[in-house]
Amino acid sequence: MQSCEITITGLSHDGQGVGRLADGQVVFVPDLLPGERALVRIEPTARRHRVLTGQCLQRLQDSPLRRRPPCILADHCGGCSLQHLSAAGQLSSKRDTVAQVLQRIAHLKVALDPVLASPSELGYRNRAVIPLERAEGGVLRAGFYRRSSHRIVNMNHCPVLDPRIDALVAPLKADLEATDWPVDRHLSQGGGLRHLALRVGHHSGEVLITLIASHGSDGFAGLSELAQGWMRRWPQVVGVLLNLQDKPTNALFGPTSKLIAGRQWLSESFGSLRFQLACDTFFQVNTPQAERVAELVLQQLPRPGCQVVDAYCGVGTFTLPMAAAGHHVHGLEVHPASVQLARLNAQLNGLEQRARFEQGPVAEHLTALLPATDAVLVDPPRKGLEGPVRQALIEQPVQRLLYLSCDPATLARDLEALVSGPYQLDSLQPLDFFPNTSHIECLAVLSS
Ligand SMILES: C[S@@+](CC[C@H](N)C(=O)[O-])C[C@H]1O[C@@H](n2cnc3c(N)ncnc32)[C@H](O)[C@@H]1O
Repeated sequence: MQSCEITITGLSHDGQGVGRLADGQVVFVPDLLPGERALVRIEPTARRHRVLTGQCLQRLQDSPLRRRPPCILADHCGGCSLQHLSAAGQLSSKRDTVAQVLQRIAHLKVALDPVLASPSELGYRNRAVIPLERAEGGVLRAGFYRRSSHRIVNMNHCPVLDPRIDALVAPLKADLEATDWPVDRHLSQGGGLRHLALRVGHHSGEVLITLIASHGSDGFAGLSELAQGWMRRWPQVVGVLLNLQDKPTNALFGPTSKLIAGRQWLSESFGSLRFQLACDTFFQVNTPQAERVAELVLQQLPRPGCQVVDAYCGVGTFTLPMAAAGHHVHGLEVHPASVQLARLNAQLNGLEQRARFEQGPVAEHLTALLPATDAVLVDPPRKGLEGPVRQALIEQPVQRLLYLSCDPATLARDLEALVSGPYQLDSLQPLDFFPNTSHIECLAVLSS
């Protein structure tokens, strides 16, 4: 086991300090910041792709941007990797990350706008899906994973969660612990409870509690009484559901949810619009920040009464604000339950004439819509645009293309192809939706 003194010169995309050994080899060290000097133990087994990882044994010089993390579990939990960096330091490091990734992957030198900070640094997450396990003696453990592992760091309080769901974690754990229900996240002992999912409407305060399990309510005697008790105890809880996920996949939710008490959905407002949200449909996790992005999107549409495609539209989060502003929007979304809710949300707001939705992969519907389209908003998952979607946008360019991205690396890959084609990049706004984590979103505005 080798230990040595290292100076940290940068941060990796996932918030680890990056330095070099005397022979030039790169070392990734969690919990260290640029400018810091530390005694680091080089991990003997972690030699991957000629990159080393290390563990900080002692900090010899601190960064002036270092601060005491707001969470007592910061040293253990892998949920937030930048808590030890000041708020201002997080924003400038996220901006640097975007600039570096664009330069490295897309060879683009872009005048980046400063990162748009989240309105709140803590308490911003309107949703949590918390892994569960039963430890010795029947103790119920719940919490997020230790960095680079699937080991739970037991928690009762998570400061980035909306306080209205954070306050439910400990009492729900206590109630679940008191049952004799099986808990088996990995499906290795016949199945049972897997995750506890909580969602709150930021504006409405309504809460949905969902237990994700490998089998139906037969295996959970007394569930209905417990659920009704929760609704009596916490009037803000509007529904309790049991979601069935019996597959050992990365998808946390299975395709069916059974209502145990109350109703299937919570109501929420978004800007001036009303929405219904289900336990398993995608919805932006930081509501006030998403509302600001909806405003930015509206400002970029080229004229009143545009024909717009909102690709990867979810439950209509951005489709409906655009339709409410007088544009005609086609939402494309693959998840059937999200499309159902998007249509319902359009109706709730009297927008069904200007907001239409197609269910299926974007690649299947986009080409036919593009000839009559002025502007496209894409908001894909982390893997970015699929090849055929990129190709369709290049072959049939639209006047304005807005790209909301949650992964700078795939954004850079896609931008490189788009600006090598008929588009120019007009602006790129990094956005902080997830303070204290290394995640960074961007809104790129392109025109042809
Ligand atoms: C990052 S979310 C954005 C949702 C929405 N724009 C919002 O802000 O609430 C991505 C969405 O794309 C959907 N999706 C993923 N792959 C897709 C595909 N190939 N075609 C259509 N939709 C897809 C997901 O179900 C999810 O709702």
